[in-house]
Amino acid sequence: MSKSKKEKPKIYKLGIKAGFLISAISAAFLFLAVWFWYDLAPKEAAFLALVSGGALFLIVYAVLFFLTYKRLETIERLFKNMARKRFMEYADVNTSRRDEIDYLMKQGIKSSRTIEREIQRLNRIENYRKEFIGDISHELKTPIFAIQGFIETLLNGALEDEEVNRDFLKKAMRNVNRLIYLTKDLMEISKLETGELKSEIDDIYLYEVLNDIIESLNYKAEKENIELIINEFDRNTRVKADKNQLKQVLINLIENGIKYNIPNGKVEVTVFTKPKQKHRVFLSVKDTGIGIDEKDIPRVTERFFRVDKSRSRERGGTGLGLAIVKHIMEAHGEKFMIESEPNVGSTFTISLRKSEPVHV
Ligand SMILES: Nc1ncnc2c1ncn2[C@@H]1O[C@H](COP(=O)(O)OP(=O)(O)OP(=O)(O)O)[C@@H](O)[C@H]1O
Ligand SMILES: [Mg+2]
Repeated sequence: MSKSKKEKPKIYKLGIKAGFLISAISAAFLFLAVWFWYDLAPKEAAFLALVSGGALFLIVYAVLFFLTYKRLETIERLFKNMARKRFMEYADVNTSRRDEIDYLMKQGIKSSRTIEREIQRLNRIENYRKEFIGDISHELKTPIFAIQGFIETLLNGALEDEEVNRDFLKKAMRNVNRLIYLTKDLMEISKLETGELKSEIDDIYLYEVLNDIIESLNYKAEKENIELIINEFDRNTRVKADKNQLKQVLINLIENGIKYNIPNGKVEVTVFTKPKQKHRVFLSVKDTGIGIDEKDIPRVTERFFRVDKSRSRERGGTGLGLAIVKHIMEAHGEKFMIESEPNVGSTFTISLRKSEPVHV
């Protein structure tokens, strides 16, 4: 016999116990009562007590069965399902009697839902980790093999060749730097995607955030012959955001604008408001670059997605920048929009919650 069959109660034991106890006590009382007060012969008194005790037993059993058996069965089903990691919707379970059994049933349903949610969350993380590890090893291979190639060539004689050794070392160094950025971005995105990294929302001055990052971005723009313009905006504009995460968003967007641009192109940062959305501030990064094909726009925020892999790689891109932006904006409960036209340019816009004005 299987274990589950053995476990299934064939008779309602609680009903038997309660019925037996109540009927035995009542029968004993009845026996004594009719024996003493009504002067019945002990045999007759015993017979009467037995019959009424039997009847009482059936009544108690039936009442308890009706009141509790179905509900105890539901509780049993609930816990068995939980043990088998099988979850179902218990919306049809009636808990309107509001007694201890209903309370237990409610608690059981609550626990079942919590466990189900937790298992789903852990499964999601597990799947995510598996996929992520696959992606990482793929992405790490390229720079590692490149470094290996340069070192091998140097060891095979190129080290003595003054004309190429510096060049090879520089290329190896570039790949090492790529590995450093890659690991930094990987840590960040993994924390963002699993929800480990929480945003610390503060009231921050947008101007200050841009000021902190502009120097290094200007340097990059100049190197690529790109004009980086920050349009004038109210320096007192404050928004509710995590300062470091917002910096990261702006760096990723502006760097892309520089990276995927054409020679002598432009990147323009504009802060603006919309009359219908008084509690929001918008920031757009517009470039005059290569643009993105319509079909690729929804995919550029997927991690490791690059429209032109070779172009991105040659510029150190791993396809994580926009995925990080998307996650940060989601964590802020804000919007991230992309408009683009191939060979014309792209505009990336984020929305931010405005802070209350400072009263002095
Ligand atoms: N401003 C842009 N103009 C044109 N294409 C863009 C622009 N920004 C992003 N893309 C495309 O979207 C892809 C994903 O961008 P993302 O910033 O996520 O990655 P990446 O720049 O390749 O690498 P990373 O930012 O991680 O160094 C890029 O590879 C590029 O093909
Ligand atoms: Mg990028």
